[in-house]
Amino acid sequence: MPVIRFVREGCDVECFPGENLRDVALRSGVELYGLKGKLGNCSGCGQCITCFVGVADNLTGPPALSALTPVEQRKLRGRPRGWRLACQAMVEHSLVVLTRPQLGWAQGEGLLAAAAEAPLPAGPIAWPTPPEDPAAETEQSATADEAGTDGPIAGDTVR
Ligand code: FES
Repeated sequence: MPVIRFVREGCDVECFPGENLRDVALRSGVELYGLKGKLGNCSGCGQCITCFVGVADNLTGPPALSALTPVEQRKLRGRPRGWRLACQAMVEHSLVVLTRPQLGWAQGEGLLAAAAEAPLPAGPIAWPTPPEDPAAETEQSATADEAGTDGPIAGDTVR
């Protein structure tokens, strides 16, 4: 499972391969948006260009994110290399991400490079367990009641 290290937030988050980076960030409580994006964003349609992230180059392994979409090729023209739109990127492998890179990119780029030096956990790290199904629990206890829990009593016929 890919692990995303969010540098600004200081946390590692695990996701399924192929998950949308914006979806994973929002699900994990990571703030993707600056003021403009908080006031209004396109909810992941690739239109508002407020979900910028900076990603560290993976020089040794396969690309961590899906290839640039046509929307990104248009909207990221003139932006620093390594910037992506989170709503357009699918996570394939572990990577290091800087949210809101527009807030001091010169410093952020250094943070990103330093964070990329530290090895990422292989995962799984803390994949959430699904909640218990209360219906299955009720069914199980009813079955146990029918079967009896005391075992055979002297004189019972055991087959
Ligand atoms: S959320 Fe609008 S471009 Fe990504």
